[in-house]
Amino acid sequence: MSQPNTAQLRQALASVVDPASQRDIVSAGLVGDINARDGLVQVSLSTSRERAAAMEPLRRAAEAALSRVPGVTNATVVLTAHKEAAPAAAAKAAPGAKPLLLPDVTAIVAVASGKGGVGKSTTSVNLAVALARMGLKVGLLDADIYGPSLPRMLGLNRKPDIKGDKMMPLEAWGLKAMSIGFLVEEETPMIWRGPMVMGALEQMMGQVEWGALDIMIVDMPPGTGDAQLTMAQRVTLAGAVIVSTPQDIALIDARRGVRMFERTAVPVLGLIENMSFFCCPNCNHSTPIFGHGGAKNEAARLGTEFLGDIPLLLDIRTHSDAGTPVMAADPTGVAAQAFAKIAARLWEKVSQPERKAGPRIVID
Ligand SMILES: Nc1ncnc2c1ncn2[C@@H]1O[C@H](COP(=O)(O)OP(=O)(O)O)[C@@H](O)[C@H]1O
Ligand SMILES: [Mg+2]
Repeated sequence: MSQPNTAQLRQALASVVDPASQRDIVSAGLVGDINARDGLVQVSLSTSRERAAAMEPLRRAAEAALSRVPGVTNATVVLTAHKEAAPAAAAKAAPGAKPLLLPDVTAIVAVASGKGGVGKSTTSVNLAVALARMGLKVGLLDADIYGPSLPRMLGLNRKPDIKGDKMMPLEAWGLKAMSIGFLVEEETPMIWRGPMVMGALEQMMGQVEWGALDIMIVDMPPGTGDAQLTMAQRVTLAGAVIVSTPQDIALIDARRGVRMFERTAVPVLGLIENMSFFCCPNCNHSTPIFGHGGAKNEAARLGTEFLGDIPLLLDIRTHSDAGTPVMAADPTGVAAQAFAKIAARLWEKVSQPERKAGPRIVID
């Protein structure tokens, strides 16, 4: 198969005209990085925050032009609303140098873990639905740019509407949601580089009409990378919740997750143990398959709160896969009760932050 080269890609991009300047996007200086590998092409278009929504047709036209180049199997064009900073410089940038995003959200809570597959997205979605069922105005942001889960878990595959220069979040199950997965096709590989992750994540916070919210749950990607840094620097986080499974190895990673947030001065609100015990759907008997209670001990050791445990339940997965969170599908079931209890405690923590000197009330 013929491999497209950068000159060919640039030529294709030069066929796209920016109506604002009446110049093609290459000579207008809008084209940033061009990455091509094995027929996969990623290009960034720089824009200002104000113009990003208006640039959407241009972004799509650029993708279409790139897909017509022989040898291109998949083209992704992203808008970056800032000049790419070297990651080291970005890490050192003083927090608050730029105005903080999402000022109308009372509490922003990051759901994090050291490794993938521990149930961060499942937990984020169900906690968000539980909080909405408590009557709160809830937003759910998918910060996992490489592997977004919200479209599937919420059963949403519409494109967001654009109003003025903002994108409207999608609404489902009583909450507002935004994910990079609403904007690009599921099959699009997201081999994006760090600074582009920051740009996309910033856009999903700053360029989306979230409105006033009581709480925003942020489904974080695994690990301790750029998305964590972006969140720590660009919004005021009420804190992070760490999800872990009972296996030791996951706990080691959770420990790393806790430290990451401590380094960036984000408070850790507590630990959740997921897939904590197997709950038999036939007899309701609980079996601690992986040895239950590790997260509780770990929370005590780290001086953070154990927020609760969630059973390993077939229902949780099947409802997730079907796009109906178990919290909405079966709100009185065992799984929903576990999520509801954690959500209530979480809201209590972020809406009435403990005074440092005061007595610490732990509800278990
Ligand atoms: N408590 C649970 N019981 C059963 N399946 C679960 C549970 N938590 C998560 N899963 C399943 O495990 C898989 C990984 O969960 P996910 O939430 O995507 O993890 P992460 O976001 O940490 O990568 C999914 O298929 C999900 O449905
Ligand atoms: Mg996930």
